[in-house]
Amino acid sequence: MKAKIEVLKADITTLEVDAIVNAANSSLLGGGGVDGAIHRAGGPAILDACRDIRAKQGGCSTGEAVITTAGNLPAQYVIHTVGPVWNGGDHLEAKLLANCYTNSLKLAEEKGLKSVAFPNISTGVYKYPKAPASAIALITTRKFLQTASSIESVVFVCFDQLNYDLYWKALN
Ligand code: APR
Repeated sequence: MKAKIEVLKADITTLEVDAIVNAANSSLLGGGGVDGAIHRAGGPAILDACRDIRAKQGGCSTGEAVITTAGNLPAQYVIHTVGPVWNGGDHLEAKLLANCYTNSLKLAEEKGLKSVAFPNISTGVYKYPKAPASAIALITTRKFLQTASSIESVVFVCFDQLNYDLYWKALN
């Protein structure tokens, strides 16, 4: 069955989907931006779960993803992925950003989840240019969904108008 891809202008912490994706950092100990919003809204259970992961595997490498409880959020899970910091474009940023989407979707499939919401990973504090980042997000997600079995819906949640316009144009 063909999964649906949508774009939404919203605060990702309000979405009642199976999993929301967090644009985390490698420490998994929280931060600003969407990371801060998710920990603030989700409560300490998320950080506790991140600390358990740190105890087992250390932090999370760029491009990798881990999954935790969503605490008080309406979502069931938070998938934490670490996007690349933009460093001019010749430091594997595109590949690492693509890995964030692929590895997050892989975790969702492993859990048999149906709906996943992504923020615009790396396009805030990490300064990844929004247009190429949105293209990587859509191309990578579309490719993954060709062979996905449980995921039925992926929502790209934009927090600013530029990102929303980029995704809306690409999807319509
Ligand atoms: N809902 C949806 N999107 C949001 C929200 C929110 N509540 N808050 C911020 N965003 C958007 C930003 O506008 C940006 O488009 O998420 C996108 C990603 O920006 P950042 O959160 O700054 O993430 P990133 O650029 O990947 O940088 C990650 O920032 O917060 C720290 O700990 C985090 O060190 C890590 C770094």
